Amino acid sequence: MNEIIICVGSSCHLKGSEKIIEIFKKEIEKNQLQEIKISGSFCQGNCTAGVNIEIDGQKIAAVTEENARGIFKKYLLDDQNE
Ligand code: FES
Repeated sequence: MNEIIICVGSSCHLKGSEKIIEIFKKEIEKNQLQEIKISGSFCQGNCTAGVNIEIDGQKIAAVTEENARGIFKKYLLDDQNE
């Protein structure tokens, strides 16, 4: 089971964390992945570098609508082929 935690604290929220959640949900659906849990967190203490997320405990900063798909692929799709 993989886990994605997306910061929905006010700073990350303003930088578009809701959009990023939507993008990840769509990617999970599109790739028919059942084993990914997605949830929100309060401020992760790194607001200036938001949007902040964690994938399986690994912190990733500066997630945007533009790079979210690439990050998803790198951490969650490529991962499964190993
Ligand atoms: S609001 Fe996301 S790190 Fe602070």
